[in-house]
Amino acid sequence: MSKRVFIKTFGCQMNVYDSNRILDTIKKIGFTETKSIELSNCFILNTCHIRDKAKEKVYHEIGRVKQNFEGKVKPIVIVAGCVAQAENSEMLKREPYIDFVIGPQSYHKLNYTIENFEKNKIRNEITDFDSISKFDYLSKIKNQDSNVSSFITIQEGCDKFCHFCVVPYTRGPEYSRPFYQILNEAKQLIQSGTKEIILLGQNVNAYSSVENKKEYRLSDLIMALENIKELKRIRYITSHPRDMSDDLIDCYKNSKKLMPFIHLPIQSGSNKILNLMNRKHKVEDYIDVYERLKKINNKIEFSSDFIVGYPGETEKDFKETLKLVKNLKFLNSYSFIFSPRPGTTASNYDQIDKKILKERLKVLQEILFNNQKIKNKSFENNQVNVLVENKMKNQDKFFGRNEYMTSVIFNGNESLVGKIIPVKINNSNQNSLFGEILTNDVEAA
Ligand code: SAM
Ligand code: SF4
Ligand code: F3S
Repeated sequence: MSKRVFIKTFGCQMNVYDSNRILDTIKKIGFTETKSIELSNCFILNTCHIRDKAKEKVYHEIGRVKQNFEGKVKPIVIVAGCVAQAENSEMLKREPYIDFVIGPQSYHKLNYTIENFEKNKIRNEITDFDSISKFDYLSKIKNQDSNVSSFITIQEGCDKFCHFCVVPYTRGPEYSRPFYQILNEAKQLIQSGTKEIILLGQNVNAYSSVENKKEYRLSDLIMALENIKELKRIRYITSHPRDMSDDLIDCYKNSKKLMPFIHLPIQSGSNKILNLMNRKHKVEDYIDVYERLKKINNKIEFSSDFIVGYPGETEKDFKETLKLVKNLKFLNSYSFIFSPRPGTTASNYDQIDKKILKERLKVLQEILFNNQKIKNKSFENNQVNVLVENKMKNQDKFFGRNEYMTSVIFNGNESLVGKIIPVKINNSNQNSLFGEILTNDVEAA
């Protein structure tokens, strides 16, 4: 019988990258991907632990798989990702339908574990932190992603321990992949048609790999990618304000392919709250980085993350966050109500009333979304350079992104996929720009 896997992914871009690599890996033992769960005989749920009720969501998903297979042969059911790491053997105890649980640093053991399960039917949990073996193993398996825009994880894990965050516990200690391993993977992707590479890390700008006594940093990776002719755009995510070093800031002078858009989470506009969060930077440090980058290139735009209602946040602290977003006018941002995550320091603090949290989120989002709409409106009647990614499903329109990662939807044709073309923007909303092509085949940038 043919082996077919269905992978469902939640969470951040790193999980999207991981799911692609999981697929590349299990193809080696004969699996092919199916987009239809009913046709699968292996179901992998790649989970995220950052939000409230993450664990319950997993059991709910498994319940749905059970329903799908009622009265039929059960698929192998695997829970991967950050909930798997955090909950490990608890999941096997609570839900007998789960066959094994595998954490993000153990994917090099996936094939062995599947084959072992096929033979011996032994349920298991694999949650070691073993990044070196994982990336050594994965680097020997071709990255088969052939999208116009592709991710590469260059750094994983975190040593910063912000008091609200589970990532240091689910992804383990900070680890940077070897420089040449990353460049080789980039070259594979570019050969398969990738035109934009997005370098990923929980603290991507803390990337540091020492090889033959030389230290390679994110700036070195950017400048090495810059020299690959077929590659058109470079991005990185997510950066930490404390690691925005001078060499990285200089890349905005020296690289033509590095896009002028930086996701730089601040979390709060109050120094008191940043201190309680253990962020180890002040609002002034953030503004200093922001201004230094704007000085180098005033076309650079920023997006950020905010946590509303962190324990101890008073009206005064919250107003400081509002003041910050009114001043810095982020192009877009993500804002979340504080969610106590099991095992983190802040989960032991007194929580703020839910009604106040919801009200604060609404007020903050109104300003953030309004900024976003105004910024997008400013593109109307102007030309933007779009890297064309694909034809849209069930529509006669094409999809791409401008320099600022904003979605652009326009008329087009297949020959434009993978090219950068000028699009005139006629309309916009909070999340997207709508336009028409000015010329059919011009490479604008
Ligand atoms: N490494 C990044 C940084 O330092 O900014 C952030 C990574 S985290 C996966 C993404 C975002 O989720 C954070 O920036 C934060 O805003 C949000 N987040 C993390 N833990 C949270 C929690 N317990 N409650 C609410 N939001 C949270
Ligand atoms: Fe989490 Fe980012 Fe803080 Fe690390 S730096 S603990 S990933 S929020
Ligand atoms: Fe979620 Fe893990 Fe990413 S908790 S946000 S999938 S690092």
